[in-house]
Amino acid sequence: MNYGFIGAGNMATAMIKGLIYAGIDSKNIYVSSPHSAAKLAANLHIQAADSETITKKCDIVIIAFLPNQLRTLGNSLNLDGKIVISVLAQVTIADLDEVFPTAFNVRSLPNINSAIGKGSTALAFSKRLSESQIEVVQNYWHLLGTTSVLDEQHFAIFSAIAGSGPAFVLKFIDALTQAGINNGLDGESAAAIAASTVAGTTETLQKSNSDAVTLMNNVASPGGSTRAGLDNFEQNDFDTIVNSAINATVNHKHT
Ligand SMILES: NC(=O)c1ccc[n+]([C@@H]2O[C@H](COP(=O)([O-])OP(=O)(O)OC[C@H]3O[C@@H](n4cnc5c(N)ncnc54)[C@H](OP(=O)(O)O)[C@@H]3O)[C@@H](O)[C@H]2O)c1
Repeated sequence: MNYGFIGAGNMATAMIKGLIYAGIDSKNIYVSSPHSAAKLAANLHIQAADSETITKKCDIVIIAFLPNQLRTLGNSLNLDGKIVISVLAQVTIADLDEVFPTAFNVRSLPNINSAIGKGSTALAFSKRLSESQIEVVQNYWHLLGTTSVLDEQHFAIFSAIAGSGPAFVLKFIDALTQAGINNGLDGESAAAIAASTVAGTTETLQKSNSDAVTLMNNVASPGGSTRAGLDNFEQNDFDTIVNSAINATVNHKHT
């Protein structure tokens, strides 16, 4: 299976690194873009090619240029009969089906963790895809992490939680780090302790048959110090702060 990328920016790079991390042979990965593709190809030992070669050689074509280029650039590509995976934010299946009427179009929304095979990706499929084509697409994304098939109306909330979420989790890690420094730890130790605590807790949750609230209550015995901290989160309305930040993200209008 050959994978072709049109666009060689941040998102394409994350996906290509994820494929290599997953063990895909770099000779099966092609990339095309006016400026960055040659350098990216040299760095990651993949194949730089023009878009015509990519559309000929690749079974799956991933479009990763900017959303406002869909019509201008899209109309110059011959994607007849190809599975086309778009990562273009806010570009719908209807848009893709209009620009690539003879392709099998997939709307996807990945996040930065795809680069280490821990991505979380939303998917929506054009009605034209068969079950076996959907399986091919799912297999691609499972190389890069987990997937959620969603109604397109839910892409905005998915984007806030999974797309912007890594920045929010990093914000929390930084707040833990600063609290550690305020209480006498050096910055390096505080950062390492905070990051490994968040990573370990996530893995504990994922490996358990439990939910976050149950595990949280298991850690916080009544009258104990963890409970005192959680009570303080409650008093300061932590959930409202998070909900408000997610709503601000969902409702943000791009200028
Ligand atoms: N970054 C994210 O976290 C993220 C998350 C989800 C979705 N997305 C979506 O992913 C897409 C790319 O975002 P990005 O952050 O990777 O942007 P980016 O870093 O600015 O990359 C855009 C790429 O488009 C390429 N390009 C421009 N004209 C082209 C052409 N004629 N043919 C082929 N490639 C061309 C550019 O090539 P040169 O570099 O050679 O000029 C560049 O590599 C966007 O549609 C965005 O909505 C991004």
